[in-house]
Amino acid sequence: MVRLGREWKETLIEGPAGTGKSHGVANWVNVFLTMFPGSRWLIARQTLKSIRNSCQVALEEDVWGPLHPCVTSSRATRLHRQGYLYPEATNVVGGVTYSGRSEIVLAGLDNPYRILSTQFDGAWVEEGIEITRRAWETIASRVRRPHAPWRPLIVTTNPDQRYHWLNQRPQEIGKNGRPKMRRLKSKHWENPIFWDLERNCWKPMGLDYIRDNLGNYTGVERQRLLDGEWVSAEGRIWAAFDDDVHVLPLSEIPEPKWAIGGIDWGFRNPTALTVWVVDKEDRIYCVREAYHTGVSLDWIAGMIQRANDYLRERWKLEMTYVVADSAEPRNIETVNALLRKPLYEGGGYVRPTRRKDQMAQTFLVDRAMRADLELNGGRPSWYIADDTLMHPADPKMVAAHRPTCLRQEVPAWVWRKTEDGRPIKDEEDPTCDAHAIDSAKYVGDEVFERDLSGPKAPQTFGPGSFGAVLGDDEIDLHDD
Ligand SMILES: Nc1ncnc2c1ncn2[C@@H]1O[C@H](COP(=O)(O)OP(=O)(O)O)[C@@H](O)[C@H]1O
Ligand SMILES: [Mg+2]
Repeated sequence: MVRLGREWKETLIEGPAGTGKSHGVANWVNVFLTMFPGSRWLIARQTLKSIRNSCQVALEEDVWGPLHPCVTSSRATRLHRQGYLYPEATNVVGGVTYSGRSEIVLAGLDNPYRILSTQFDGAWVEEGIEITRRAWETIASRVRRPHAPWRPLIVTTNPDQRYHWLNQRPQEIGKNGRPKMRRLKSKHWENPIFWDLERNCWKPMGLDYIRDNLGNYTGVERQRLLDGEWVSAEGRIWAAFDDDVHVLPLSEIPEPKWAIGGIDWGFRNPTALTVWVVDKEDRIYCVREAYHTGVSLDWIAGMIQRANDYLRERWKLEMTYVVADSAEPRNIETVNALLRKPLYEGGGYVRPTRRKDQMAQTFLVDRAMRADLELNGGRPSWYIADDTLMHPADPKMVAAHRPTCLRQEVPAWVWRKTEDGRPIKDEEDPTCDAHAIDSAKYVGDEVFERDLSGPKAPQTFGPGSFGAVLGDDEIDLHDD
């Protein structure tokens, strides 16, 4: 695999799936920790759960084997480990003595406390495209422990869309006049179990891997995972969407004024519930999501309650109401019956979308996402928190290489194309997954359309009077 010299602090190792990125870095991290006893590494990913089947497997199975003290020293199973502790050791490198117990801390950005509370000699972030630039910089700021002679930060990843921050960082120049990150490309021929280097072709295991794991991908995903290219989908509908701009850690969301939800019904396709908070400048933030195929209306009612529990605990508020696809009035009725919420403005808690013009909703949200419009004061009005799912990602969607949440739907949502590949700019590609997107459109319509509707008709009755309480219709009756 690659040599990681000490002249670079940040190293990106990118490449198609199965080229040996995780294997190589796991080995390298182990060499570092063995060479400099007493040092401490962070291994992080967007969620702690996702480390279990990637980094931990590479370490436990490829590097150590079952009898290594790191594995045997704790009775915790792989799924419950918070880290690994090496045996006490001493080693002299370049005349300096290093001694102590080396340590690996496992952490997910879904619970950053473990990262923030400690200092590290080095860090490995797996599948870097999942994390935000801010998260990366936070991790970098924690790699400052002076135990070992240098402090490497390694990020491994499959490529994503071209304008992803991680693809841009190696081109950005830091304060010292050098690129902020070094880029190393990992290729299939570097993996000896998949590629026959002598004959320059796949080995049988490599072919199986391609067929079983990568065979289902088409288009952009295939270019990324098989060829390792950073490519963007052509003809994206919400083209302004940028992970780096629109994805925020929950902690950076300002105090909200109110909250609202959106539902798109599905059965074979996912049912999507997105939950949004609205700040005092009418900027909206998606903070919770449910996204699952084959679920019942009970399930969705439960998710609405769960989201409200969350909002109450965090911000002392609940969704004021939920807008849902009007094509399924029975679903709306049933969920309302299950929820037994008081009526809001004379309608059910879950209520149908007001208008059917989907394209108008699409443009309304597009405008809210853009930073280049004066209307928004140079700042988008539309954001997604970096960790929203209220349940494990839908395994059916994962297996089919389809999106599992709003943030994954948006970059893949494209205009329909003509035979010769030109986008038709007023028709969505019907094969795209746009379920959370639809729910987001209903919500956008409610929040942003209010702004544009101008001042409401002046109130003709004094506050607290019968007229104000009962409204015009009732007053007519009482006039007699
Ligand atoms: N140098 C190597 N020697 C032996 N096995 C390897 C080597 N590199 C990779 N592998 C194996 O190939 C498979 C894919 O490697 P992995 O590191 O998971 O790839 P990536 O992280 O690039 O997707 C794993 O099962 C790994 O154990
Ligand atoms: Mg990997």
